[in-house]
Amino acid sequence: MDIEPLKQAALAEFKAAPDLAALDQVKGAWIGPHGKFTALMKQLGALPKEERPAAGKLINQAKTELDAAISERRAELELKAALPKEATDFTLPGRRRPLGKLHPLTQVTEDIVRSFRKIGFAVADGPEVEDEYHCFDALNTPADHPARDLQDTFYLQTRERLLLRSHTSTVQIRAMEKQRPPVRIIAPGRVYRRDNPDATHNPTFHQIEGLYVDRKVTVGDLKGTVEFVFKELLGEETRIRFRPHYFSYTEPSFEIDFSSPLTRKMGKEWLEIAGCGMVHPRVFEQVGYDPEEWTGWAFGFGIERVAMIRYNITDVRLFYENDVRFLRQF
Ligand code: DAH
Repeated sequence: MDIEPLKQAALAEFKAAPDLAALDQVKGAWIGPHGKFTALMKQLGALPKEERPAAGKLINQAKTELDAAISERRAELELKAALPKEATDFTLPGRRRPLGKLHPLTQVTEDIVRSFRKIGFAVADGPEVEDEYHCFDALNTPADHPARDLQDTFYLQTRERLLLRSHTSTVQIRAMEKQRPPVRIIAPGRVYRRDNPDATHNPTFHQIEGLYVDRKVTVGDLKGTVEFVFKELLGEETRIRFRPHYFSYTEPSFEIDFSSPLTRKMGKEWLEIAGCGMVHPRVFEQVGYDPEEWTGWAFGFGIERVAMIRYNITDVRLFYENDVRFLRQF
């Protein structure tokens, strides 16, 4: 009994099956209940007794080979069926899957940056680990000013008395050191203060600084710019007002209040939102700008505060806990 030609014929047909349905059909034709190979096995009983063991062994080996060939072809055909029917065009634009969202503070920061970009401001950056010169001295802050106190500012235990910047005003100095006027920058970033966390305080938070230096810049320019940005950010009905204040790096200095349906929702007509003023001549002198030639304004405000007003959030700590039940709402 020569099973080899039969086996080879079966193997060739399995290999040639063009798809899974064809493979099933060929499989049935050979090793199904009425298959050609099955018939061979049935003939075994007709063989003389002494030939049966050897023939049986051969048939079983062949059967194992056929089963393996079927599995192999099936795997090939399944892979083929899973592949796209048409060639993939790798030059097509990607489809972005919305895997998550931006943090509300990032959203607010990006909105503020977008508004300032429209009117020609560039984003500037500076280090969070600063020196006293950029955080205080260059900003005309006297050595005995309370903000410099150990109780208010985090100092690093290094010989150069480095600190964690307590405001983004440091970036004003760094930007002016790097370039000649005109300057039009905003600087969003993280700042640090020695506060105990509560509903409205956290030892680290975010500010955005603005600086504009050119010839004949006025308080009117400052007011117009702030009004434009806050209307974009908090709605067309937003109004702003300036109140006299004191900062060592501006003269005159103001605090900015704003009023809108959002403030009324919080039970107040006016809410304080930012500090600002006309850059002090001593600050210009520190960076080598001639105060007779150059004028400018600067402002700074807290990003958390804006986000809290915008989204009616009453506890600042929610921003830092990364609880998805909170984050999903934005
Ligand atoms: N640095 C101030 C603060 O942290 C905010 C500020 C006030 C920034 C007046 C300025 C400014 O640039 O001119 O409270």
